[in-house]
Amino acid sequence: MLKVVVMVSGGGTNLQAILDAVQDGKITNTEIVGVISNKKDAYALTRAQQAGIPSVCVSLKDYEGREDFNRALLKAVDSFEPDLVVLAGFLVILPELLVKNYKNRMINIHPALLPSFGGKGYYGLKVHEEVLARGCKVTGATVHFVDEGCDSGPILLQKAVEVKHGDTPEVLQRRVMEEAEWKILPQAIDFIANGKILFEGGHVFLGDSI
Ligand code: GRF
Repeated sequence: MLKVVVMVSGGGTNLQAILDAVQDGKITNTEIVGVISNKKDAYALTRAQQAGIPSVCVSLKDYEGREDFNRALLKAVDSFEPDLVVLAGFLVILPELLVKNYKNRMINIHPALLPSFGGKGYYGLKVHEEVLARGCKVTGATVHFVDEGCDSGPILLQKAVEVKHGDTPEVLQRRVMEEAEWKILPQAIDFIANGKILFEGGHVFLGDSI
């Protein structure tokens, strides 16, 4: 059983997609052991509660400074003894030690086809605004392992989504979630839980391709 902790900051629709996929048997050999939020009012926490998953909030506001917060965050993650940490809309600069200790065991979902529209400042609606500003015809989502850089770790899965005439950032964001994020994040967890991934030469190969 792969023990998974999901880290969130917001609405938690990706968390919900993961919980549903476990429930429906689309993700196998996996137990969601905990949810960690940095926002007390994140709806994701309600989703965790409804699913009977232990959850904890670690908010920067409750600590003297960044170092104390980082320590508490790391402690919260470790307390669940996870095999995999999933960042599902977790809008926090990660403590270095967390990244180091969970190398190759932490994944993130990004709402664009990396390396395009990734890196510092590219989160939330901003990503979709920039895709539209550039006149892209295709965008999508990426699941990648987390390394020391920003959106720079090995890519696991990507899915393309069409950009349509008249799209607003909000409309495009929703389509990217529905057509890509909610599919490839659960899929990535299932691949990992079932040993279907291979690290080779700094890249990741998976599923039927290995
Ligand atoms: C998603 O767009 C995800 O790609 C990004 O943050 C958003 C989280 O949405 N990193 P939700 O909290 O899962 O609804």
